[in-house]
Amino acid sequence: MTYSVAVSGASGYAGGEILRLLAAHPDIEIRTVTAHSNAGQPLVQHQPHLRSLSHLTLQDTTPEILAGHDIVVLALPHGQSGQYTDALGETALVIDAGADHRLTASDAWDAFYGGTFHEPWTYGVPELLVGGAKQREALRGATRIAAPGCNASTVSLSLAPGVAAGVIDAGDIVSVLAVGPSGAGKSLKTNLLGSEILGTANPYAVGGTHRHIPEIRQALAAASGRPSTDESIRISFTPVIVPMARGILATSTAPISEGVSDAEIRAAWESAYGDETFVQLLPAGEFPRTADVLGANTALMGLAIDRAANRVTVVTAVDNLVKGTAGAAVQSMNLALGLPEDRALSVNGVAP
Ligand SMILES: NC(=O)c1ccc[n+]([C@@H]2O[C@H](COP(=O)([O-])OP(=O)(O)OC[C@H]3O[C@@H](n4cnc5c(N)ncnc54)[C@H](OP(=O)(O)O)[C@@H]3O)[C@@H](O)[C@H]2O)c1
Repeated sequence: MTYSVAVSGASGYAGGEILRLLAAHPDIEIRTVTAHSNAGQPLVQHQPHLRSLSHLTLQDTTPEILAGHDIVVLALPHGQSGQYTDALGETALVIDAGADHRLTASDAWDAFYGGTFHEPWTYGVPELLVGGAKQREALRGATRIAAPGCNASTVSLSLAPGVAAGVIDAGDIVSVLAVGPSGAGKSLKTNLLGSEILGTANPYAVGGTHRHIPEIRQALAAASGRPSTDESIRISFTPVIVPMARGILATSTAPISEGVSDAEIRAAWESAYGDETFVQLLPAGEFPRTADVLGANTALMGLAIDRAANRVTVVTAVDNLVKGTAGAAVQSMNLALGLPEDRALSVNGVAP
């Protein structure tokens, strides 16, 4: 069976990456691409690297144009998806790359986003621990999927094994992330001009204000079987924009729980990810670079046990547009449709 797909936000970064992956998917026909201010223009004018899709023209994003497809992928600024998702009742599978359906608690939505709260959908991070299982079980046969925030899934995957096993204290997590500016989208913003970001590192959303914080707390609560509103999970989260188009390097630390051995700590991550294709733990003493996962659907992780500081340090590299968004969406889509989970996804990156 071939599934017809409409991708909205097709002129943007997330939409473009979803199209790049879907163009190589043997079970998918990309039938419709939509945008907003650029509707009416050829897709390749905005995505010149997507040569196989040069026959497509960006259409307006309306419920009528999105209707009638087997799959609809929304890659719109947060707050915009809800108006379309409410009208897509008959569509078999809808995947939202935005934040609108990620949070389960309306007060967290109000505090970090604001505007209308929409119901939570199945979270699109298959490898995430949820209680004693993995999130992929919830994704099998799902019809509504919320793809993750790129920083959020990187930090959640980094720490979920330790939180779930109880070998780290989730009440004192510190995460500092080097992030590429593509994570903030393609629309013009003065602080993201080349002249503002080249040759410098720019911290932003410092001091507990970043929108991905509630998403991480929710995911780590689920990993440890706590309610999503559990107040005991606390995270200091600081992203820093650095001059690389794509990529996230997240360094996360948390205190080691009392009486836990080094072997028990490492075993928590090994048992969580030992069988995974797209989340890989490096041997002790090795740490990833963002260049190692460029273009790959891979989260590459290094783990250190710092006894002097009594903290575990996890360094994780992802490509924000692949494992952080489009790869997570396609991997979740494959699970929802009962296809091989890795179809059209590569564990290998592009180098140098
Ligand atoms: N970038 C990432 O690494 C990343 C990672 C995870 C999740 N996401 C999520 O993916 C979503 C898209 O992000 P992005 O980085 O791709 O942003 P982007 O590059 O700015 O693209 C936004 C897209 O949405 C369209 N659009 C804007 N306003 C619209 C409206 N009112 N109605 C319909 N379409 C509208 C734009 O069309 P025009 O160009 O025609 O105006 C464009 O195609 C966001 O919710 C973001 O949080 C992004």
